[in-house]
Amino acid sequence: MSFTRRQVLAGLAGLGIAGLGAGGVRYWLGRPENVATHDYELIAAPLDLELVQGHITPAWGYGGQAPGVELRCRQGERLRVRFINKLDVQSTIHWHGIRLPLEMDGVPYVSQAPVLPGEYFDYDFICHDAGSFWYHPHTTSAEQLGRGLVGPLIVEEREPTGFRHERTLSLKTWHVDEQGAFTAFSVPRQAAREGTRGRLTTINGEPNPTLELPAGQVVRLRLINLDNTITYRLNLPGGEARIYALDGNPVKPRPLGKEYWLGPGMRIDLALKVPAAGEELSLRNGPLRLATLKGGASSEAPGDWPPALPANPVAEPDLARAETLRFNFEWAAALASPADEAAGRYKYWQINGQAWDINDKTCADRPIATLKKDGHYIFVLRNMAQYQHPIHLHGMTFKVLGSDRRKIIPYFTDTYLLGKNETARIALVADNPGVWMFHCHVIDHMETGLMAAIEVV
Ligand code: C2O
Ligand code: CU
Ligand code: CU
Repeated sequence: MSFTRRQVLAGLAGLGIAGLGAGGVRYWLGRPENVATHDYELIAAPLDLELVQGHITPAWGYGGQAPGVELRCRQGERLRVRFINKLDVQSTIHWHGIRLPLEMDGVPYVSQAPVLPGEYFDYDFICHDAGSFWYHPHTTSAEQLGRGLVGPLIVEEREPTGFRHERTLSLKTWHVDEQGAFTAFSVPRQAAREGTRGRLTTINGEPNPTLELPAGQVVRLRLINLDNTITYRLNLPGGEARIYALDGNPVKPRPLGKEYWLGPGMRIDLALKVPAAGEELSLRNGPLRLATLKGGASSEAPGDWPPALPANPVAEPDLARAETLRFNFEWAAALASPADEAAGRYKYWQINGQAWDINDKTCADRPIATLKKDGHYIFVLRNMAQYQHPIHLHGMTFKVLGSDRRKIIPYFTDTYLLGKNETARIALVADNPGVWMFHCHVIDHMETGLMAAIEVV
């Protein structure tokens, strides 16, 4: 596929008018038998939710659900999704953590023109890596993700793994009041600090659900943080659980331990030994219960811990010949001017002295770094602020090497939770040409400066 950014900006990105295949149905998602061009049709549309009993929340959903319907694909195969926009605002879909060509990355004015109301866009890419991923827009993100446009994308391993049971748990804390009405998705005072938090925490759209799992079996729990702001401090007191993958990449299995901090955008795959029938465990965020996991009927023989998951085909960075680049994440709210704010330009954060302007379509023309295709790089990430930032890179998977604040067992990821005043080192092989967003996944940090473009040529 030959493609340039200029073509996108000129609007040649293969747009069409929705209607085909939707057949008058408001939501439809499936693998159409007689349509040769795509595997899924995914419709974004308004959706009334009852998050608070007896009250309606005017959410937006994918495939008639919020969080959106779970998409699945097998490693090494193509995923073809026709995204149909039935919202009255423009949108895109970004495939978080998937290593794909730039024109499928869903960033407006960088990867594609935004998909206008009533139009569709065909996403089509190969899923090289197996694991737990997710999808979301990259347009007016605080509101669009906040209203529910977030969903899991599961890439199954090529061969069956040792897991016979699995569940996806999508974590989201909604910005709603006691009557289910939306509250502000981003408040300037909060955006300049830890980010604007919602109030009502849900798993798969339900506050505090009870999930029945087969007693005595080992179940793969795919926990996905698709929240705008919150880092969940996951713990499972009394539970027997092991970590099998982080952010879509397998690790050598190890016990969950006391607590795992799952920042926005991050995922963790746990193996859980489900307790006996009728017994319960609490999955918690710090001291707060997120869900009750309950042993349910099972006629199978008790399961054992499966072997480690097979590694993904990610290039190993060669540290001996890597070039080092430094990125400082700075708090800049003291510099924000009232004139800028009046004009809707909030600049509370910057990377190496530069703030991204979310309203300026030309920011990506000024990449913060240019990497040589197939070059090896070490990034030193330095958080100069009191607030943590889940730092995410599009297009390429990186290896976390170490930190000055905690012990790290090196692992591959797409998002690293950079703690207060922490300095961490990551490394990667720049094997995917394009212009890739590099940003904090606290959405209102990203929208108030904490984003940059990294170019690979
Ligand atoms: Cu989930 Cu720009 O990323
Ligand atoms: Cu991403
Ligand atoms: Cu941040």
